[in-house]
Order: sequence, then structure tokens, then C-alpha cells
Amino acid sequence: MLYPLLRNTLFILPPETAHQVSMKGLQLAHSIPFVKNQLAKNFQYKDTNLAKNCFGLHFPNPVGLGAGFDKNASYLNELEMLGFGFVEIGTVTPKPQAGNSIPRLFRIPDQKALINRMGFNNDGVEMIARRLNERKSKNKSSLIVGGNIGKNKVTENKDAWIDYCTNFKALENVVDYFVVNVSSPNTPGLRELQEKEALRKIFTELQNLNKNNKPLLLKIAPDLETSALDDIIALTTEIKIDGLVATNTSLDRSSLKGLNIERAIKIGAGGLSGLPLLEKSTEILNYLHQGIGGRIPIIASGGIFNGADAQAKINAGASLVQIWTGFIYEGPSIVKNICQSLSANK
Ligand SMILES: Cc1cc2nc3c(=O)[nH]c(=O)nc-3n(C[C@H](O)[C@H](O)[C@H](O)COP(=O)(O)O)c2cc1C
Repeated sequence: MLYPLLRNTLFILPPETAHQVSMKGLQLAHSIPFVKNQLAKNFQYKDTNLAKNCFGLHFPNPVGLGAGFDKNASYLNELEMLGFGFVEIGTVTPKPQAGNSIPRLFRIPDQKALINRMGFNNDGVEMIARRLNERKSKNKSSLIVGGNIGKNKVTENKDAWIDYCTNFKALENVVDYFVVNVSSPNTPGLRELQEKEALRKIFTELQNLNKNNKPLLLKIAPDLETSALDDIIALTTEIKIDGLVATNTSLDRSSLKGLNIERAIKIGAGGLSGLPLLEKSTEILNYLHQGIGGRIPIIASGGIFNGADAQAKINAGASLVQIWTGFIYEGPSIVKNICQSLSANK
């Protein structure tokens, strides 16, 4: 109930500053046992009927946090306190990257949307693996952690598979599943890797390394043509891809009808997320689900704000859902609200 007030205050700050302030606040709250217990009691929702087995992993509930929120795996304990069923860290690249210049994250509050062109800013896989190892050695947490992996900006596409393999080797023992991200619009040329031959190379090399059968998923863009979606569906019958994440952010601005032209120009390039992405990403999810015929699970991402949105994704073929922009606009109670609503529908 307090979140609308807090959100109004946070929205006075630039988006990235607001993100850092919120996460530091959450870290402080988590460090005080009484506050931590109160927050956990308030935000977590326990219902064994919501538990889901997917990719050989046990998810306590189907509501996860999408990649890009905790890029460096710095806040996993705090996010676990808020009741997420799983958290996807990254996108992680082999070498650390500063990302694009600031400002690179923009709010469009009247449309419940964000546009970002972060550009895979992250601490690099070595440091992130060290952080995850340290957490693992200190902590008996059962939180499912996904590792979303990408390539460095300076790596040419022909060598991209090497970057994905470097990330895999470094994170193999500290994440529960991997997501191959070839769909971010903010690394020049990255989306070309969604082409069939490039994907075949990346997944074949990764599966050669994957002796312990870690689930390897593919995250796709909402801007793909039907023929490219058909290629991906065909590829899932040819090589081992354990699941899909549908979808990443969009380059298409046509669903942002109310955005005035000056503001759109001022924001410039980047990926659109939030409510304007809901319909498109659900369409893609449904198309993939029909094509795949339920052979492999799909994680839905794009425009989820409440239980009805999550249920619509499940009806369209999702096994699990992820939120991101909804978390910014609705606040931490979004996880519990979605879980409660899904429970009521069971
Ligand atoms: C600021 C920001 C950064 C993101 N960074 C990543 C990223 O590093 N890797 C990735 O795969 N997706 C990234 N995403 C995409 C989200 O994980 C998610 O797929 C997308 O925002 C759609 O979901 P939403 O409408 O609920 O936000 C990012 C999204 C935002 C808003």
C-alpha cells in the first residue's frame, strides 16, 4: 500500500539512481534480522500447489525476475526475501563492460513502459562467478538462479560462440540453468546471432561442454519474422535446446501510441519493455508454443503486471513467467499478488 508513495519519490530520481538506492535500501533491510523476517513474512507467498518442475529443476513458484535487474548477482538474498521463485542474473559477458553512456534507461510512466539501451554493463564473468561462489559457500539458499550469458561488444559475431563457452565454463557450478541471450537490441549485431547457423554453432559448442546436462535455454526477440521463428522451432528438433525465453525487449515503437514525437526522439534507441510489449510477446510465445507442441518449456517475459497477465501467458503456453518492468511500476508486492491470483485460479 505504501509503494505508490515510495514510487513517486523514487521517480524523482534518474532511473538508474533510483534502482541503486532501492537495492541499497533492500540490502540494509535484509541485514537487520527483525526487518528481514517481517519483509519475508509480508512478501513471500507459500502454496505448494504453485510449485513447478521444469528442466529438471524444482521451482517453488512460477514467478521469476528477468535478466538485467541483478546483472552482477549482487542482491540475490534480498530478492529471495521478496518471494521470487527464481532470479536470472546477467547478462554476463567474459570481460567486464561499462555499457553505453548514461542516460540509457528511460521511464514512460503513462504507458507503464521503459526504454533501455544499457549495453550489457556488468562486472565480467570472473568476478560474478566469484560472488556466486562466495554466496554458495555462506548460504544454504534454495533460490533457483539462472545465468543469462552474452558476448562482449568487441567480440566479432564469428567468435561469439567462444564468449558463450567462456561464460558457461565460469558459471557452470554456480547457476542452475543458462539462458543464451542473442536478442538484446543494445549490442550492435547481436541479434544476427538468432540466425539458424549461428545458433547451431553456439548451442553445439555449449552442449559439447555441458557434461552435467545443465538446462540451456534460448532468449529471443519479439521482433522476429515468422520465418525466423519457424527456424528456431525447427532447430529445437535438431539440437538440444532445453527451453525458450520469450521475449526480450522490442525495437518496435508502434504500440507506444501516446508518446509524443519530441519525447520519442529525445529517448532515441533502445529496447521497449512493459505494458506495450505484453500483446506482442504473448503472440510470439503462443506461436512458439504451437510450433513446439509443448516439447520444451517456455518462460514468458514481457509486460506482466498482475495475475491476469501471468495467467494469460500460462494459457498461451508458458511454464514459468518473469517480471521486470512490472516490478518497477507495481513494487515488491507484485510477486505475492501474482502468486495469490494464480493460486486462486488453480
Ligand atoms: C533496464 C533493463 C535491462 C535489461 N537487461 C537485460 C539483459 O541484460 N539481458 C536480457 O536478456 N534481458 C534484459 N532485459 C530484458 C528483460 O529481462 C525482459 O525480458 C524485458 O524487459 C521484458 O519484460 P518486461 O516487459 O516485464 O520488462 C532488460 C530490461 C530492462 C528494462
